[in-house]
Amino acid sequence: MEELTVPQGRFALTRHPVRANDPLRAWDAADEYILRHVAPMPWAQSPDAALLVVNDGSGALATALAKHRPRSLTDSYLAHAATRANLARNRVDPAAVALLTSFDALPSALDVVLLKVPKSLSLLEDQLHRLRPALRPDTVVIGAAMAKHIHTSTLDLFERIVGPTRTSLAEKKARLIVSEPSATLKPPRNPWPRAYTVPGSGEVITGHAGVFSPDHFDVGTRFFLEQLLARYARAPLAGAVVDLGCGNGVVGTLTALRNPGVTVTFIDESYRAVASAEATFRANAGPDRAARFVVGNSLFELSEGAPIARGSVDVILNNPPFHSEQAMGDETAREMFVASHAALRAGGELWVVGNLHLAYEKHLKRVFGACDTVAANGKFAVLRATRR
Ligand SMILES: C[S@@+](CC[C@H](N)C(=O)[O-])C[C@H]1O[C@@H](n2cnc3c(N)ncnc32)[C@H](O)[C@@H]1O
Repeated sequence: MEELTVPQGRFALTRHPVRANDPLRAWDAADEYILRHVAPMPWAQSPDAALLVVNDGSGALATALAKHRPRSLTDSYLAHAATRANLARNRVDPAAVALLTSFDALPSALDVVLLKVPKSLSLLEDQLHRLRPALRPDTVVIGAAMAKHIHTSTLDLFERIVGPTRTSLAEKKARLIVSEPSATLKPPRNPWPRAYTVPGSGEVITGHAGVFSPDHFDVGTRFFLEQLLARYARAPLAGAVVDLGCGNGVVGTLTALRNPGVTVTFIDESYRAVASAEATFRANAGPDRAARFVVGNSLFELSEGAPIARGSVDVILNNPPFHSEQAMGDETAREMFVASHAALRAGGELWVVGNLHLAYEKHLKRVFGACDTVAANGKFAVLRATRR
């Protein structure tokens, strides 16, 4: 296992889930840069500074800075799981780091904020708005990212929401952003969450910042729903349905509205996605319709409540992640297909939509033995695999 070597020490770190031959490390040059940069700072000499780390992908920052008893805020279940595992691996008391999700309250004042700049500009925008009330003029605010992810628009957000902002020289293709909270600045209104209306049927879909397609109907999702809803228009679906990787919940919600006999479980590894799905579902299906909203990794690692029993699910709906903060290739999709096969009852169906070039059918054939192409257009394929 590779080790991160920084002034704070040497730390063995892995991503979550741990995969054989994972091409990605559990940290990047921006983590190393920020840890080197803060090591000589006055606050880093005392354990008492109120420190918040944000978007710490696998817990590299929280583990290296654990003596400050940081809070670690991320929207990702996988990042929290990796942080817990890495603290244990490096024999750090798990209680040293308080894990916060996107909607948890922040302390009223912070001394230091170390923020890994996310690829999603909207997520950064909303996070800076939520952080703003805890910033004082002397709060140290440092962002870090690989230089290719820092744009003028990134710096504009820091300038408009936090205060005067400058960038460091690049080191190993990483850059720091140093922002001074201004007491006189009047930040603009936070535009998040946003919503859109489904053309034709009029359902209002809510999306928090950072969630997949938060403010418009994604073309792939739309194609998926057209095929799925047409298939069950005459003989409605009933039973247990899972919207796996639910995002804003549009797939599970429209399925539930058109098929009154289904009960949908919405699952996503993003807290913002699950909150969006719950808002979408409740706004359209009302307060009393049964549904479950749960954060977790795929189907069998849920953050709370009853596990999904193997062989218990009638239909799983899945528009897999193909490129995100947490996933680079199709390994998450492949893990979802294997988990779906285990979760479905005999005769149960997994419905998948993907870009044609991702060729999910070959993985589905391997896992399920067969796979139908329900429809394909120039860009997407809708696939169905049935558990035998
Ligand atoms: C392409 S989006 C699809 C969103 C929505 N179902 C739609 O069609 O509009 C993929 C979703 O999978 C989620 N995801 C990524 N990795 C996951 C994992 N390991 N477990 C559960 N959900 C995951 C992402 O957060 C994202 O919301």
